Amino acid sequence: PQKRDTRRNMEASLTARDRVGIQDFVLLDAYTSESAFLDNLRKRFHENLIYTYVGTLLVSVNPYKDLDIYSKKQMDTYMGVNFFELPPHIYALADNVFRTMLSEFNNHFILISGESGAGKTEASKKILQFYAVSCPSTKLLNNVRDRLLLSNPVLEAFGNAKTLKNDNSSRFGKYMDIQFDHRGGAVGGHILSYLLEKSRVVHQNHGERNFHIFYQLVEGGEEDLLRWLGLERNCKNYRYLVQGDCAKVSSINDKSDWKTVQKALSVIDFSESDTEHLFGIIASVLHLGNLKFEADARGYATIKNNQETHWLLGIPNQVLQQGLTHRKIEAKTEEVLSPFSVEHAVYARDALAKAIYGRTFNWLVNKINESLVNQDSSRKMVVGLLDIYGFEVFSVNSFEQFCINYCNEKLQQLFIQLTLKSEQEEYELEGIEWEPVPYFNNKIICDLVEEKFRGIISLLDEECLRPGEATDLTFLEKMEEKIGGHPHFVTHKLADKNTRKTLERGDFRLLHYAGEVTYCVVGFLDKNNDLLYRSGKEVMQHSKNAIIKHCFPSSEPDNKKRPETVVTQFKNSLVGLTEILTSKEPWYVRCIKPNESKQPAKFDDVLVRHQVKYLGLMEHLRVRRAGFAYRRKYEIFLQRYKALCPDTWPNWKGTPAEGVRCLIKHLGYKTDEYKLGRTKIFIRHPRTLFATEDAFQVCKHQLATKIENCWRGLMARKERERRAWAVKVIKKFIKGFMTRNQPACIDNSEYLAYVRQNYLTRLKENLPKSVLDMDSWLTPPPILKEVNELFMFLKNSPCYIVWMLLLLQLLLKAQTSSMFKGKKENYPLSVCRPFVDTRIALEDINLKVLQTIQHEHLKYGVPVVKYDRNGFRPRLRQLIFTQEAAYLVEETKIKQRIDFTSLKGVSVSNLSDNFLILHVTCDDIKQKGDLVLQCDFLYEALTNLSFIADKQSCVKVVQGSVRFDIQPGREGFVDFKSGQESMVYRAKNGHLMVVSVDRKSNS
Ligand SMILES: Nc1ncnc2c1ncn2[C@@H]1O[C@H](COP(=O)(O)OP(=O)(O)O)[C@@H](O)[C@H]1O
Ligand SMILES: [Mg+2]
Repeated sequence: PQKRDTRRNMEASLTARDRVGIQDFVLLDAYTSESAFLDNLRKRFHENLIYTYVGTLLVSVNPYKDLDIYSKKQMDTYMGVNFFELPPHIYALADNVFRTMLSEFNNHFILISGESGAGKTEASKKILQFYAVSCPSTKLLNNVRDRLLLSNPVLEAFGNAKTLKNDNSSRFGKYMDIQFDHRGGAVGGHILSYLLEKSRVVHQNHGERNFHIFYQLVEGGEEDLLRWLGLERNCKNYRYLVQGDCAKVSSINDKSDWKTVQKALSVIDFSESDTEHLFGIIASVLHLGNLKFEADARGYATIKNNQETHWLLGIPNQVLQQGLTHRKIEAKTEEVLSPFSVEHAVYARDALAKAIYGRTFNWLVNKINESLVNQDSSRKMVVGLLDIYGFEVFSVNSFEQFCINYCNEKLQQLFIQLTLKSEQEEYELEGIEWEPVPYFNNKIICDLVEEKFRGIISLLDEECLRPGEATDLTFLEKMEEKIGGHPHFVTHKLADKNTRKTLERGDFRLLHYAGEVTYCVVGFLDKNNDLLYRSGKEVMQHSKNAIIKHCFPSSEPDNKKRPETVVTQFKNSLVGLTEILTSKEPWYVRCIKPNESKQPAKFDDVLVRHQVKYLGLMEHLRVRRAGFAYRRKYEIFLQRYKALCPDTWPNWKGTPAEGVRCLIKHLGYKTDEYKLGRTKIFIRHPRTLFATEDAFQVCKHQLATKIENCWRGLMARKERERRAWAVKVIKKFIKGFMTRNQPACIDNSEYLAYVRQNYLTRLKENLPKSVLDMDSWLTPPPILKEVNELFMFLKNSPCYIVWMLLLLQLLLKAQTSSMFKGKKENYPLSVCRPFVDTRIALEDINLKVLQTIQHEHLKYGVPVVKYDRNGFRPRLRQLIFTQEAAYLVEETKIKQRIDFTSLKGVSVSNLSDNFLILHVTCDDIKQKGDLVLQCDFLYEALTNLSFIADKQSCVKVVQGSVRFDIQPGREGFVDFKSGQESMVYRAKNGHLMVVSVDRKSNS
């Protein structure tokens, strides 16, 4: 929580607080008022501001329209920007999670909750898209990225359906891991799916549809394919598609969705035969649904004659006929076939259809997972996305709703535990006393459902497994008997007179944390048993379809050992999920549905108020506010408000904590309005902060006027100076030319240097073929008398050492030239500056440092400015090269040693700044990363470095931007551009911006 808070910039949102409500509910003064909460949400919603924070939790209200806030441009805006500097956004949250992961090297998950149609799935897709765009990109990574993205349309086709609540309702729970390498590249993924609502395959309520894929196939499938599958292009012909009476939905384009799915399947490694088999199954389910039975003379079911059954997965007619109309019973020594009634056969048929579809769905998820496997098994970090079916209440609610709502209870429970825990931890860490917060704990409902022996799940299983005549009604009676007195449970029989009117005889009602839901017990036992008669399974083993063969292996344990019931399986999978989640850092997105009619710009107060209540937003806010609305690191608080107190302005000499103490004393904070923690100040009421902020705004205004005046004067002075300088330079050049033949003096020194530069440049390109070939040296211009004389001298004297020295200097310059000439803008200026041996005299190096590194032979030293890896604050340092390594020295301390063997390279820009970035290899995350330096003697230093380290080719001149490792696995950027004035600052996107004056246009 600490780290995250430093990313917060509540202050930025303070200024906007009156215009569009507040961006963070934590700053709501009336934080216990639901109406104030609602007012703020409504105000923002009507301005298309659908996102609002409660601390680090994001509230999102479904706009039901395309807002232009999801563009690529928006993503760029939010990339790497301090969390709260921009308006709240799902991208800001995603980015913050990502960055926290990279800096803390840990795993995270984003829990997206809200009722059906509130925008969970859309939110999860936006997060995924954001990562796809913002992650580092290579060919390999792009491949993984595309698969991650495209797994979505496939899973939605098979797992989503139109319901009354949502035209694209997820009918399964989905937890997706996105795996990142230590640089933040997406390297893999994994999907876990939870309890698919299989009953939808065979039955849909009025106004609802079956899973999208059926309609996509019938509407979008190519003629050939349909003919091959024996399908007609008319949904009305299939019993499994007509019950809801709404095959066509205006918001859904099955035809184009079909194309999307086709394309996606090919990207995620589905072979042609995979897809053939897959759609063979989808078609077979439709055919199966149309299978009719009739009673024979004895009243037993037979498949009606003349039905085409050969479409059904290549199963011989005979086998199918027997399997669907009989049940195998094991008698003492032999198996006997017991015939079904027609009703029973229909039931068996539907059970088979559900089983086929359900198992195929699992196969599909596994298949997608295979294609998402992280090929490189190195250490990875994950961000998990949980998009699970939201709390659901229909007019009739059945077993599925019971499971879905139970799942939501569990997640709410987890949410309570985690938020309370993290808040409490922060208080402890800061040494502040924890003040307990009253909140509704839904544990009582979780227990009611899942408690061993006494919970509803146990009772249901008991009824399913016990011998004798168990029915849905006996299950109801058992519940009445065992949990009758529970405050969150009521039935027709147990209810008082008024409540009884609202309940049917076969109903039971649970008072969920999110509201009351009345469940109809009919079908509970069947759905929980999910019986697939053994004969049905055996039928499937005759199939020629590879997927079916895989899904119904012959080695499956048979009926003797009862498989776990559906609800128990589900309960166990939720236990697993909770384990997965609790091992990670939680983040929350709470989605809210503004109205029931899926309309934009409609804000139904009652509906929203209800969600605000049950999503626990008020409680979360209360927890966040438990005493303290606002908390901030001392440094940051002081930095912003120091101008408000003469003692802290402009600079505070002591510790930040003392500075804050001094500041708030001056501001007159009352003792009960704040608390001082170990690293942070906690402020109880927003109004205290608002007052401080207002004072700051006034002060800033006054300051701004003052600064503006000074600035204008300064600029005018600068301009005058610049012109005067230009006149001087031109004059000097002319004078130099006129006096070029005179002995070196102040008038011609610069001019001569320029001529010398020219000569050296030419010389480098025309070096003698052999060093002993004294005659072919390029003749120096007459004015370079000293060179001329030296040459004469060398020719006549065998003084080898002097010769070598000269050659060395020349070679050095030639080396510099080859590295930078024509590449870096200010290179020409450097040439006339003679190189010296070192820029730091031995006595200017601290003795202690000297003692440590002396044995490596000091070669060269130069003062540099080092930019902090995190805040990019400039620090003065010495850069010293020995025979073996480069040292960054701060007075008495060696801050970093870079062995030349681990020096990967050096980057400089092509512009006229004097920045250099030393790239180092390091695998150990504790090690320091690359160095960002500024050096006045850039060319000299680099030329020396390249000679000493013997790395002539390691210097790279780059354009635009340099990526570097802040520390292993955490990247930073230095951006270069030219401008009117040279500047170095930390840009909004977190990069270090280096602006240098354009030498070309200025010369
Ligand atoms: N951020 C959004 N912007 C625009 N429309 C949205 C947004 N979120 C949701 N919707 C609309 O609402 C519908 C339901 O959203 P969905 O995410 O499927 O709900 P849930 O997964 O919570 O059931 C979507 O199909 C879409 O039309
Ligand atoms: Mg959904």
